[in-house]
Amino acid sequence: MTLFSVDENRCKGEGICVDECPARNIVINESTGLPEPIPGAEEFCINCGHCVVVCPHGAISHRSMSPDECPPVIKELTFNPEHVEHLLRARRSIRTYKKKHVEKEKIERLIHIARYAPSGHNLQPVRWLVIYDSDRVSHLASIVMDWMRELIKQKNPLAILLHMDRLVERWESGNDPICRGAPHVIVTHAQADERTAQPACTIALTYLDLTAPSFGLGTCWAGYFHAASNIWPPMQDALNLPDGHACFGAMMIGYPKYTYHRLPKRNTPQITWI
Ligand SMILES: Cc1cc2nc3c(=O)[nH]c(=O)nc-3n(C[C@H](O)[C@H](O)[C@H](O)COP(=O)(O)O)c2cc1C
Repeated sequence: MTLFSVDENRCKGEGICVDECPARNIVINESTGLPEPIPGAEEFCINCGHCVVVCPHGAISHRSMSPDECPPVIKELTFNPEHVEHLLRARRSIRTYKKKHVEKEKIERLIHIARYAPSGHNLQPVRWLVIYDSDRVSHLASIVMDWMRELIKQKNPLAILLHMDRLVERWESGNDPICRGAPHVIVTHAQADERTAQPACTIALTYLDLTAPSFGLGTCWAGYFHAASNIWPPMQDALNLPDGHACFGAMMIGYPKYTYHRLPKRNTPQITWI
């Protein structure tokens, strides 16, 4: 199949696809009045499918997706600004979890939603590692603690800055300050040298974070876990990511033990207008 095909009976030659193609890959053929790819379009196409989904007539079929594979936007399901503001302000980092596993299907469904996060050039570099086994989560947390003990021993400035001695004390008194007793941790990873990987993984985990409460789930970014995962060899061994991959984010997930009742204050944004 060529890069895309146009249904002549449906296309009205309005040129919406021409305007919206991010790679400026489409032109209107003056004699037929129909869109067609520019020479060499394959090289520039990022397979985003915008040409397919922006067409109000379902006239374009891209090699990577046909209109039939792209469900319609449901206007009744879109939120107003108050809904969105409330969703974002009511999301919380959860640090106390029920001793209950999350159904694998739920985690899978969440990841299937989070994968719609944007990525540079639509490269979709994010890969997911679900540490489902709770004992393994605890074991990984213990490895992060070993890393912290080592940094404390070396008098590393990071250990002082992050009060790692307090974290070690908490661990030793039976509380887990790394994974907070969450039953599972979700890691995003990608090729270490992929330029777009860090923002793509961060945004994908943010999507997951925002979606989780609608499933009754709580999440919390696992920053210490993430920090250790690319620099502490025992952690790298335990995670065993594919060759050339790095961890670009980690998130605890589970059923929250408590409910939040109010929206906390945050700093006023500092905005510069030019
Ligand atoms: C990159 C990043 C790393 C974080 N790492 C941790 C962590 O390791 N442990 C933890 O308890 N919270 C962690 N947090 C949660 C923050 O402390 C939390 O977002 C902040 O206190 C605001 O609270 P809220 O998320 O409920 O609004 C992290 C947040 C971010 C964005």
